[in-house]
Amino acid sequence: MKINKIVGYQVLDSRGKPTVAAAISLTDGTTHTARIPSGASTGAHEAKELRDSGSKFEEKYYGGLSVQQAVENINKKIAPKLVEEQIDLNLVDSQLIELDPSEDHHLLGANATLAVSIAAAYADAHSQNKSLARSFNPEGQLLIPMPMVNILSGGAHANRTMDIQDVLIIPVGAKSFSQALSWIVAVREMAAKLGKEAGHVTNLVADEGGLAIAFTSIEKACEFVVSAIEKVGLKVGSEVCLALDVAATQFFDGKNYNLSTVGKSYSQSEFVEYINNLVSNQPIISIEDPFAEDDWNSWQTFTELAPKKLQVLGDDLLTTNLLRLNKAISEKSANAILIKANQNGLVTSTLNVLKQARANNFNTVVSARSGENEDSWLADLATGWNAGQIKVGSTHGSERNAKWNRLLEFEATESTKFTNPFN
Ligand code: PGA
Ligand code: ZN
Repeated sequence: MKINKIVGYQVLDSRGKPTVAAAISLTDGTTHTARIPSGASTGAHEAKELRDSGSKFEEKYYGGLSVQQAVENINKKIAPKLVEEQIDLNLVDSQLIELDPSEDHHLLGANATLAVSIAAAYADAHSQNKSLARSFNPEGQLLIPMPMVNILSGGAHANRTMDIQDVLIIPVGAKSFSQALSWIVAVREMAAKLGKEAGHVTNLVADEGGLAIAFTSIEKACEFVVSAIEKVGLKVGSEVCLALDVAATQFFDGKNYNLSTVGKSYSQSEFVEYINNLVSNQPIISIEDPFAEDDWNSWQTFTELAPKKLQVLGDDLLTTNLLRLNKAISEKSANAILIKANQNGLVTSTLNVLKQARANNFNTVVSARSGENEDSWLADLATGWNAGQIKVGSTHGSERNAKWNRLLEFEATESTKFTNPFN
């Protein structure tokens, strides 16, 4: 089957910001569309999305965030190269690399390359009569990933109501994905109720749907979520555990970690000690970005020091980048990687990063971004790639639930197994 037409266009994401969509039509008359997410606490080493600020494409009312350059790159550069070629994801990605050989895809824009790459993955899968998940894992059971879900959010996603970005839960004792989701919803509702009873403002919802309740310390935020888990009758530790996304780059000034809601500053070595005490005193089984994106020393010291079972998860540190992952593997700076396709820019090279991580015993967590949309390809990738874990935000917002609902669809309609990497 051949590619007949490729059209890029601008759409809106869950924050009301422009993002890129790409539609690939095939010679059989079918059309396959992908829309691309976008971050807010973006790592400096991510692939570069093109935004129109300062360019001739800048639109009056989008504050420089329109994506018409990326759209034009799809329509004027990518489409002429790919139309009439066979639909094959590997071929499409290698042609995108020929057009833009830069490491960070800044020539075409990673938002242009990823939109075409995901649309091609869909088109390729459907031309073989397969779902996107099944195109990567055609035989046997589909492995549904363990969810990691925001309950409280602060940082860049909620006007800095807390210094850290998220307190999340992982339903490690759930026997199925649908049970896991029911526990998560119950804890989320209980947290909202308890927050209201304690006089917090709980109708403020963060970008990923978490409750934006202000807490004066990380410990108090953790204890609050623990009390919500207990109040719904679930066991902390054996059934539901905590995870944090510290997003520490956001409050590191190059020398010190500044927890402004607590009113305390920590040197790098003091912050390693602080985080180590925190994970020892709270039921935390996963900690994401506890240190800044280039503070490799703190990462290495902490990973050496931390309990062996703790998941030390690199997001801004690793940015789904093979070179940074390889450095972390050789220096033992982390033991898990967040996989975000738009940090990388292509489906096939994102998968290569995931494979390299797994080959070196790193856990892998396929993740959405804070700016999302109604697409559910993330759930297909996480499942088809046997990632083991998925992070999408909360259970509020259809852009989040599109992914959870896709996993429920797999559970209902396919032969599946619910994965538990924390067993
Ligand atoms: P982002 O946040 O999409 O704003 O980068 C998500 C995360 O940090 O995991
Ligand atoms: Zn993160």
